[in-house]
Amino acid sequence: MSTAYRLTGFDRRTQGDALAALLGVSFNFPPEDAPDWWDRGGDDQLRVLEADGGRIAGTLLHIPMGHYFGGRSVRCCGVAGVAVAHEFRGRGAATWMMRQGLREMRAMGYPLSSLYPSTMPLYRNAGYEMAGVYYTTTIPLRAVEVRSHERTMREVRELDIPAVEALYRQLAAERNGWLDRGRYLWSRAREPRLGPAHGFVAVGPDGVEGYLWFVNQKGEGWKSRMMITDLAAATPEAGRSLLGFLAGNGTMHEDAVCHLAPDDPLLQLIPEHCFRSRMQERWMLRVLDPAAAMAQRGWAPGLSGAVEFELRDDLFPENEGRWVLEVAGGQAELARGGQGRMKLDVRQLAQLYSGYQTPAALARVGRLEAPPEVQATAATLFAAPQPQLTEMF
Ligand SMILES: CC(C)(COP(=O)(O)OP(=O)(O)OC[C@H]1O[C@@H](n2cnc3c(N)ncnc32)[C@H](O)[C@@H]1OP(=O)(O)O)[C@@H](O)C(=O)NCCC(=O)NCCS
Repeated sequence: MSTAYRLTGFDRRTQGDALAALLGVSFNFPPEDAPDWWDRGGDDQLRVLEADGGRIAGTLLHIPMGHYFGGRSVRCCGVAGVAVAHEFRGRGAATWMMRQGLREMRAMGYPLSSLYPSTMPLYRNAGYEMAGVYYTTTIPLRAVEVRSHERTMREVRELDIPAVEALYRQLAAERNGWLDRGRYLWSRAREPRLGPAHGFVAVGPDGVEGYLWFVNQKGEGWKSRMMITDLAAATPEAGRSLLGFLAGNGTMHEDAVCHLAPDDPLLQLIPEHCFRSRMQERWMLRVLDPAAAMAQRGWAPGLSGAVEFELRDDLFPENEGRWVLEVAGGQAELARGGQGRMKLDVRQLAQLYSGYQTPAALARVGRLEAPPEVQATAATLFAAPQPQLTEMF
Protein backbone atom coordinates (compact mmCIF):
# COMPACT_ATOMS: atom_id res chain seq x y z
CA MET A 1 0.00 0.00 0.00
CA SER A 2 1.42 3.43 -0.88
CA THR A 3 2.03 6.00 1.86
CA ALA A 4 -0.18 9.09 2.06
CA TYR A 5 1.72 12.33 2.77
CA ARG A 6 0.85 15.79 3.99
CA LEU A 7 3.02 18.93 3.89
CA THR A 8 2.40 21.00 7.01
CA GLY A 9 3.86 23.86 9.04
CA PHE A 10 6.42 23.31 11.79
CA ASP A 11 5.77 23.22 15.54
CA ARG A 12 9.13 23.37 17.29
CA ARG A 13 7.65 22.30 20.62
CA THR A 14 6.19 19.01 19.42
CA GLN A 15 8.28 18.28 16.32
CA GLY A 16 11.63 19.91 17.17
CA ASP A 17 13.46 16.83 18.52
CA ALA A 18 12.43 14.52 15.69
CA LEU A 19 13.23 17.11 13.03
CA ALA A 20 16.61 17.97 14.56
CA ALA A 21 17.52 14.27 14.53
CA LEU A 22 16.45 13.93 10.90
CA LEU A 23 18.43 17.01 9.82
CA GLY A 24 21.48 16.00 11.85
CA VAL A 25 21.73 12.56 10.29
CA SER A 26 20.88 13.84 6.78
CA PHE A 27 23.32 16.79 6.68
CA ASN A 28 25.96 15.51 9.06
CA PHE A 29 25.75 18.11 11.81
CA PRO A 30 25.02 17.78 15.53
CA PRO A 31 21.22 17.83 16.09
CA GLU A 32 21.71 20.46 18.79
CA ASP A 33 22.77 22.92 16.03
CA ALA A 34 19.35 22.68 14.35
CA PRO A 35 17.62 25.35 16.50
CA ASP A 36 20.22 27.96 15.46
CA TRP A 37 19.42 27.17 11.83
CA TRP A 38 15.67 27.45 12.47
CA ASP A 39 16.22 30.78 14.26
CA ARG A 40 17.94 32.13 11.16
CA GLY A 41 15.39 30.74 8.71
CA GLY A 42 12.27 31.28 10.83
CA ASP A 43 10.02 28.48 12.06
CA ASP A 44 7.25 29.76 9.78
CA GLN A 45 9.43 29.04 6.74
CA LEU A 46 9.87 25.35 7.58
CA ARG A 47 7.67 22.70 6.06
CA VAL A 48 7.28 19.22 7.49
CA LEU A 49 6.36 16.14 5.49
CA GLU A 50 4.06 13.98 7.55
CA ALA A 51 3.27 10.39 6.69
CA ASP A 52 0.29 8.32 7.85
CA GLY A 53 -0.25 8.63 11.58
CA GLY A 54 1.64 11.95 11.79
CA ARG A 55 5.12 10.42 11.53
CA ILE A 56 7.77 12.93 10.34
CA ALA A 57 8.98 11.77 6.94
CA GLY A 58 10.80 14.82 5.65
CA THR A 59 11.31 18.56 5.61
CA LEU A 60 12.31 21.59 3.57
CA LEU A 61 12.94 25.28 4.28
CA HIS A 62 11.62 28.24 2.30
CA ILE A 63 14.02 31.16 1.93
CA PRO A 64 12.17 34.30 0.84
CA MET A 65 14.52 36.25 -1.43
CA GLY A 66 14.90 37.54 -4.97
CA HIS A 67 17.23 37.09 -7.93
CA TYR A 68 18.35 40.13 -9.92
CA PHE A 69 17.73 39.74 -13.64
CA GLY A 70 18.04 42.72 -15.96
CA GLY A 71 18.59 45.04 -12.97
CA ARG A 72 15.37 44.21 -11.16
CA SER A 73 14.72 41.82 -8.31
CA VAL A 74 12.34 38.96 -9.09
CA ARG A 75 10.70 37.35 -6.04
CA CYS A 76 11.99 33.85 -5.51
CA CYS A 77 11.46 31.13 -2.96
CA GLY A 78 14.87 29.61 -2.26
CA VAL A 79 14.70 26.04 -1.03
CA ALA A 80 17.18 24.48 1.39
CA GLY A 81 17.32 21.67 3.92
CA VAL A 82 15.46 19.13 1.77
CA ALA A 83 15.65 15.86 3.67
CA VAL A 84 13.72 12.61 3.93
CA ALA A 85 13.98 10.19 6.86
CA HIS A 86 15.81 6.96 6.00
CA GLU A 87 12.76 4.75 6.54
CA PHE A 88 10.89 6.70 3.83
CA ARG A 89 13.69 7.05 1.28
CA GLY A 90 13.71 5.50 -2.16
CA ARG A 91 9.96 5.52 -2.72
CA GLY A 92 9.11 8.95 -3.99
CA ALA A 93 8.70 10.91 -0.72
CA ALA A 94 11.06 13.73 -1.76
CA THR A 95 9.49 13.87 -5.22
CA TRP A 96 6.04 14.23 -3.69
CA MET A 97 7.27 16.84 -1.20
CA MET A 98 8.97 18.97 -3.86
CA ARG A 99 6.01 18.94 -6.20
CA GLN A 100 3.58 19.74 -3.40
CA GLY A 101 5.97 22.39 -2.07
CA LEU A 102 6.09 24.07 -5.48
CA ARG A 103 2.29 24.18 -5.69
CA GLU A 104 2.29 26.00 -2.38
CA MET A 105 5.02 28.45 -3.47
CA ARG A 106 3.13 29.30 -6.65
CA ALA A 107 -0.05 29.84 -4.66
CA MET A 108 1.95 32.19 -2.41
CA GLY A 109 2.78 34.32 -5.45
CA TYR A 110 6.42 33.38 -6.01
CA PRO A 111 7.25 33.54 -9.75
CA LEU A 112 10.54 31.65 -9.24
CA SER A 113 12.14 29.05 -7.02
CA SER A 114 15.83 28.17 -6.87
CA LEU A 115 18.12 25.78 -5.00
CA TYR A 116 21.48 24.02 -4.90
CA PRO A 117 20.93 20.34 -5.74
CA SER A 118 22.70 17.40 -4.14
CA THR A 119 21.13 15.26 -6.87
CA MET A 120 19.62 16.65 -10.06
CA PRO A 121 16.93 14.16 -11.20
CA LEU A 122 14.88 14.79 -8.06
CA TYR A 123 14.59 18.49 -8.88
CA ARG A 124 14.37 18.04 -12.64
CA ASN A 125 11.27 15.95 -12.02
CA ALA A 126 9.79 18.99 -10.32
CA GLY A 127 10.65 21.36 -13.21
CA TYR A 128 13.96 22.85 -12.01
CA GLU A 129 16.95 23.03 -14.33
CA MET A 130 20.59 24.11 -14.10
CA ALA A 131 20.60 27.87 -14.46
CA GLY A 132 23.87 29.25 -13.12
CA VAL A 133 27.19 28.68 -11.41
CA TYR A 134 28.98 29.22 -8.09
CA TYR A 135 32.77 29.55 -8.01
CA THR A 136 35.37 29.23 -5.33
CA THR A 137 38.29 31.57 -5.94
CA THR A 138 41.56 31.30 -4.02
CA ILE A 139 43.84 34.33 -3.90
CA PRO A 140 47.44 33.87 -2.69
CA LEU A 141 47.88 37.00 -0.61
CA ARG A 142 51.62 37.52 -1.16
CA ALA A 143 50.95 37.68 -4.90
CA VAL A 144 48.23 40.36 -4.79
CA GLU A 145 50.78 43.19 -4.85
CA VAL A 146 48.32 46.00 -4.28
CA ARG A 147 49.49 48.44 -1.62
CA SER A 148 46.60 50.90 -1.79
CA HIS A 149 45.33 52.70 1.30
CA GLU A 150 43.21 55.18 -0.67
CA ARG A 151 40.24 54.43 1.58
CA THR A 152 40.26 53.92 5.30
CA MET A 153 39.59 50.30 6.17
CA ARG A 154 38.04 50.17 9.62
CA GLU A 155 36.01 47.68 11.58
CA VAL A 156 32.32 47.79 10.81
CA ARG A 157 29.94 49.46 13.29
CA GLU A 158 26.26 48.75 13.76
CA LEU A 159 25.49 52.15 12.24
CA ASP A 160 27.20 51.11 8.96
CA ILE A 161 24.82 48.22 8.30
CA PRO A 162 22.14 50.11 6.32
CA ALA A 163 24.87 51.59 4.06
CA VAL A 164 26.46 48.14 3.63
CA GLU A 165 23.14 46.60 2.63
CA ALA A 166 22.33 49.46 0.24
CA LEU A 167 25.75 49.09 -1.37
CA TYR A 168 25.26 45.36 -1.82
CA ARG A 169 21.83 45.88 -3.42
CA GLN A 170 23.24 48.49 -5.79
CA LEU A 171 26.01 46.14 -6.98
CA ALA A 172 23.84 43.00 -7.01
CA ALA A 173 21.31 44.70 -9.29
CA GLU A 174 24.10 45.09 -11.86
CA ARG A 175 24.83 41.35 -11.84
CA ASN A 176 22.96 38.56 -13.52
CA GLY A 177 21.36 36.20 -11.03
CA TRP A 178 22.74 37.64 -7.77
CA LEU A 179 20.48 37.37 -4.76
CA ASP A 180 18.28 40.03 -3.28
CA ARG A 181 19.01 38.99 0.28
CA GLY A 182 16.55 38.64 3.08
CA ARG A 183 17.24 38.05 6.77
CA TYR A 184 18.47 34.46 6.36
CA LEU A 185 21.01 35.28 3.67
CA TRP A 186 22.36 38.34 5.49
CA SER A 187 22.83 36.25 8.61
CA ARG A 188 24.84 33.69 6.62
CA ALA A 189 27.05 36.44 5.17
CA ARG A 190 27.77 38.26 8.44
CA GLU A 191 27.41 35.54 11.08
CA PRO A 192 28.57 32.49 9.16
CA ARG A 193 28.45 29.06 10.75
CA LEU A 194 32.18 28.70 9.98
CA GLY A 195 33.06 30.76 13.06
CA PRO A 196 33.28 34.35 14.33
CA ALA A 197 33.50 36.78 11.41
CA HIS A 198 35.38 40.09 11.18
CA GLY A 199 33.68 42.83 9.20
CA PHE A 200 35.56 45.83 7.74
CA VAL A 201 34.32 48.76 5.67
CA ALA A 202 36.19 50.95 3.17
CA VAL A 203 35.22 54.51 4.02
CA GLY A 204 35.52 57.41 1.57
CA PRO A 205 34.51 61.07 1.73
CA ASP A 206 30.82 60.19 1.28
CA GLY A 207 30.69 57.13 3.50
CA VAL A 208 30.90 53.37 2.94
CA GLU A 209 32.27 52.49 -0.52
CA GLY A 210 33.13 48.85 0.09
CA TYR A 211 33.21 46.12 2.70
CA LEU A 212 34.32 42.60 3.49
CA TRP A 213 33.51 39.94 6.06
CA PHE A 214 35.86 37.06 6.74
CA VAL A 215 36.56 34.18 9.11
CA ASN A 216 40.11 33.16 9.97
CA GLN A 217 40.84 29.47 9.55
CA LYS A 218 43.95 27.48 10.30
CA GLY A 219 45.99 26.75 7.20
CA GLU A 220 49.27 24.90 6.65
CA GLY A 221 51.82 25.15 9.49
CA TRP A 222 51.48 28.45 11.35
CA LYS A 223 49.77 30.25 8.50
CA SER A 224 46.05 30.96 8.31
CA ARG A 225 43.49 31.32 5.59
CA MET A 226 40.88 34.09 5.24
CA MET A 227 37.47 32.66 4.37
CA ILE A 228 35.63 35.64 2.86
CA THR A 229 31.87 35.39 3.31
CA ASP A 230 31.00 38.73 1.73
CA LEU A 231 32.91 41.33 -0.24
CA ALA A 232 31.93 44.33 -2.37
CA ALA A 233 33.47 47.51 -3.74
CA ALA A 234 31.49 50.29 -5.40
CA THR A 235 34.46 52.46 -6.45
CA PRO A 236 37.95 51.77 -7.86
CA GLU A 237 39.49 53.34 -4.73
CA ALA A 238 37.50 51.00 -2.46
CA GLY A 239 38.35 48.02 -4.70
CA ARG A 240 42.08 48.75 -4.49
CA SER A 241 41.82 49.37 -0.74
CA LEU A 242 40.07 46.02 -0.19
CA LEU A 243 42.84 44.30 -2.14
CA GLY A 244 45.41 46.31 -0.19
CA PHE A 245 43.75 45.09 3.00
CA LEU A 246 44.02 41.48 1.80
CA ALA A 247 47.66 41.94 0.76
CA GLY A 248 48.31 43.53 4.15
CA ASN A 249 47.30 40.22 5.76
CA GLY A 250 49.80 38.32 3.65
CA THR A 251 52.38 37.86 6.38
CA MET A 252 50.15 35.67 8.56
CA HIS A 253 47.65 34.42 5.98
CA GLU A 254 48.60 32.21 3.09
CA ASP A 255 45.53 32.94 1.01
CA ALA A 256 41.97 34.24 0.92
CA VAL A 257 39.06 32.19 -0.34
CA CYS A 258 36.02 33.94 -1.78
CA HIS A 259 33.18 33.15 -4.17
CA LEU A 260 33.64 35.81 -6.81
CA ALA A 261 33.64 34.45 -10.34
CA PRO A 262 36.94 34.75 -12.25
CA ASP A 263 35.51 37.52 -14.44
CA ASP A 264 34.49 39.64 -11.44
CA PRO A 265 35.62 43.25 -11.96
CA LEU A 266 37.23 43.37 -8.50
CA LEU A 267 39.61 40.54 -9.42
CA GLN A 268 40.64 42.46 -12.54
CA LEU A 269 42.32 44.99 -10.22
CA ILE A 270 44.94 42.38 -9.24
CA PRO A 271 47.96 43.03 -11.50
CA GLU A 272 48.93 39.38 -12.02
CA HIS A 273 46.83 36.33 -12.86
CA CYS A 274 47.66 34.77 -9.54
CA PHE A 275 44.24 33.60 -8.35
CA ARG A 276 42.59 30.27 -9.13
CA SER A 277 38.85 29.83 -9.65
CA ARG A 278 37.05 26.52 -9.54
CA MET A 279 33.45 26.08 -10.61
CA GLN A 280 32.21 24.43 -7.45
CA GLU A 281 28.44 24.14 -7.78
CA ARG A 282 25.58 24.72 -10.16
CA TRP A 283 22.28 26.10 -8.97
CA MET A 284 18.86 25.29 -10.39
CA LEU A 285 15.91 27.51 -11.21
CA ARG A 286 12.18 26.73 -11.50
CA VAL A 287 9.85 29.13 -13.29
CA LEU A 288 6.62 28.85 -11.32
CA ASP A 289 4.64 31.64 -12.94
CA PRO A 290 6.01 32.59 -16.38
CA ALA A 291 3.90 35.75 -16.79
CA ALA A 292 4.93 37.19 -13.41
CA ALA A 293 8.56 36.14 -13.94
CA MET A 294 8.76 38.00 -17.25
CA ALA A 295 6.96 41.08 -15.91
CA GLN A 296 9.05 41.40 -12.72
CA ARG A 297 12.50 41.21 -14.27
CA GLY A 298 14.25 44.06 -16.07
CA TRP A 299 15.07 44.18 -19.77
CA ALA A 300 17.66 46.34 -21.45
CA PRO A 301 16.24 49.67 -22.56
CA GLY A 302 16.23 49.76 -26.34
CA LEU A 303 15.62 46.03 -26.58
CA SER A 304 12.45 45.07 -28.40
CA GLY A 305 11.00 41.94 -29.97
CA ALA A 306 8.41 39.23 -29.64
CA VAL A 307 8.62 35.45 -29.35
CA GLU A 308 5.73 33.03 -29.67
CA PHE A 309 6.31 29.84 -27.77
CA GLU A 310 4.58 26.68 -26.61
CA LEU A 311 5.38 25.55 -23.11
CA ARG A 312 5.23 22.12 -21.48
CA ASP A 313 4.91 21.92 -17.71
CA ASP A 314 3.72 18.64 -16.24
CA LEU A 315 3.19 20.14 -12.78
CA PHE A 316 1.23 23.31 -13.61
CA PRO A 317 -1.38 22.93 -16.39
CA GLU A 318 -1.98 26.68 -16.07
CA ASN A 319 1.54 27.27 -17.47
CA GLU A 320 1.12 24.97 -20.45
CA GLY A 321 0.26 26.01 -23.97
CA ARG A 322 0.90 28.96 -26.21
CA TRP A 323 2.29 32.30 -25.12
CA VAL A 324 3.54 35.50 -26.72
CA LEU A 325 6.40 37.32 -25.02
CA GLU A 326 6.65 40.97 -26.03
CA VAL A 327 9.54 43.10 -24.87
CA ALA A 328 9.74 46.86 -25.37
CA GLY A 329 10.81 49.94 -23.39
CA GLY A 330 12.51 47.95 -20.63
CA GLN A 331 9.32 45.98 -19.87
CA ALA A 332 7.86 42.66 -20.92
CA GLU A 333 4.40 41.25 -21.17
CA LEU A 334 3.52 37.59 -21.51
CA ALA A 335 0.06 36.97 -22.91
CA ARG A 336 -1.82 33.95 -24.20
CA GLY A 337 -1.84 33.38 -27.95
CA GLY A 338 0.47 33.03 -30.95
CA GLN A 339 1.49 30.06 -33.06
CA GLY A 340 3.85 28.41 -30.55
CA ARG A 341 6.81 28.74 -32.93
CA MET A 342 9.34 27.86 -30.23
CA LYS A 343 8.62 24.63 -28.33
CA LEU A 344 10.23 23.99 -24.99
CA ASP A 345 9.75 22.60 -21.50
CA VAL A 346 9.49 24.85 -18.45
CA ARG A 347 12.97 23.60 -17.45
CA GLN A 348 14.49 25.08 -20.57
CA LEU A 349 12.52 28.28 -20.06
CA ALA A 350 14.43 28.63 -16.76
CA GLN A 351 17.73 28.22 -18.64
CA LEU A 352 16.83 30.89 -21.19
CA TYR A 353 15.45 33.18 -18.49
CA SER A 354 18.67 33.19 -16.47
CA GLY A 355 20.88 33.40 -19.57
CA TYR A 356 22.60 30.10 -18.77
CA GLN A 357 21.84 28.59 -22.20
CA THR A 358 21.06 30.03 -25.62
CA PRO A 359 18.19 28.76 -27.81
CA ALA A 360 20.72 27.44 -30.33
CA ALA A 361 22.58 25.49 -27.65
CA LEU A 362 19.32 23.98 -26.35
CA ALA A 363 18.22 23.10 -29.90
CA ARG A 364 21.58 21.39 -30.45
CA VAL A 365 20.84 18.95 -27.61
CA GLY A 366 17.21 18.41 -28.59
CA ARG A 367 15.72 20.47 -25.76
CA LEU A 368 14.12 23.23 -27.86
CA GLU A 369 12.59 23.43 -31.30
CA ALA A 370 12.28 26.66 -33.26
CA PRO A 371 13.10 28.04 -36.70
CA PRO A 372 16.44 29.90 -36.82
CA GLU A 373 14.86 33.37 -36.94
CA VAL A 374 12.80 32.65 -33.80
CA GLN A 375 15.90 31.30 -32.03
CA ALA A 376 17.76 34.47 -33.00
CA THR A 377 15.07 36.77 -31.55
CA ALA A 378 14.88 34.76 -28.33
CA ALA A 379 18.69 34.79 -28.09
CA THR A 380 18.72 38.59 -28.34
CA LEU A 381 16.01 39.07 -25.74
CA PHE A 382 17.54 36.73 -23.16
CA ALA A 383 21.22 37.54 -23.83
CA ALA A 384 23.04 38.02 -20.51
CA PRO A 385 26.41 37.42 -18.86
CA GLN A 386 26.92 34.03 -17.24
CA PRO A 387 24.46 33.82 -14.32
CA GLN A 388 26.36 33.50 -11.05
CA LEU A 389 25.81 33.36 -7.36
CA THR A 390 28.42 34.31 -4.81
CA GLU A 391 26.80 32.49 -1.91
CA MET A 392 25.25 29.16 -1.01
CA PHE A 393 21.91 28.88 0.71
C1 LIG B 1 17.96 13.23 -1.47
C2 LIG B 1 16.75 12.73 -0.66
C3 LIG B 1 15.96 13.93 -0.17
C4 LIG B 1 15.91 11.86 -1.57
O1 LIG B 1 14.75 11.43 -0.89
P1 LIG B 1 13.85 10.22 -1.45
O2 LIG B 1 12.51 10.32 -0.84
O3 LIG B 1 14.58 8.95 -1.29
O4 LIG B 1 13.80 10.60 -3.00
P2 LIG B 1 12.81 9.99 -4.09
O5 LIG B 1 12.46 8.58 -3.74
O6 LIG B 1 11.67 10.93 -4.32
O7 LIG B 1 13.78 9.97 -5.36
C5 LIG B 1 13.77 10.98 -6.34
C6 LIG B 1 15.06 10.94 -7.12
O8 LIG B 1 16.13 11.45 -6.34
C7 LIG B 1 17.36 10.84 -6.73
N1 LIG B 1 17.96 10.22 -5.56
C8 LIG B 1 17.34 9.79 -4.43
N2 LIG B 1 18.26 9.28 -3.58
C9 LIG B 1 19.44 9.38 -4.20
C10 LIG B 1 20.76 9.02 -3.83
N3 LIG B 1 21.03 8.45 -2.66
N4 LIG B 1 21.76 9.27 -4.71
C11 LIG B 1 21.52 9.85 -5.91
N5 LIG B 1 20.27 10.20 -6.30
C12 LIG B 1 19.27 9.98 -5.45
C13 LIG B 1 17.01 9.78 -7.75
O9 LIG B 1 17.21 10.30 -9.04
C14 LIG B 1 15.53 9.56 -7.52
O10 LIG B 1 14.86 9.18 -8.67
P3 LIG B 1 14.78 7.63 -9.07
O11 LIG B 1 14.27 6.92 -7.87
O12 LIG B 1 13.82 7.65 -10.22
O13 LIG B 1 16.16 7.23 -9.45
C15 LIG B 1 17.20 11.86 0.56
O14 LIG B 1 18.04 10.83 0.09
C16 LIG B 1 17.94 12.65 1.62
O15 LIG B 1 17.33 13.19 2.53
N6 LIG B 1 19.27 12.72 1.49
C17 LIG B 1 20.14 13.44 2.42
C18 LIG B 1 19.98 14.94 2.34
C19 LIG B 1 20.05 15.49 0.93
O16 LIG B 1 20.90 15.12 0.10
N7 LIG B 1 19.13 16.43 0.64
C20 LIG B 1 19.04 17.11 -0.62
C21 LIG B 1 19.73 18.42 -0.48
S1 LIG B 1 19.66 19.34 -1.97
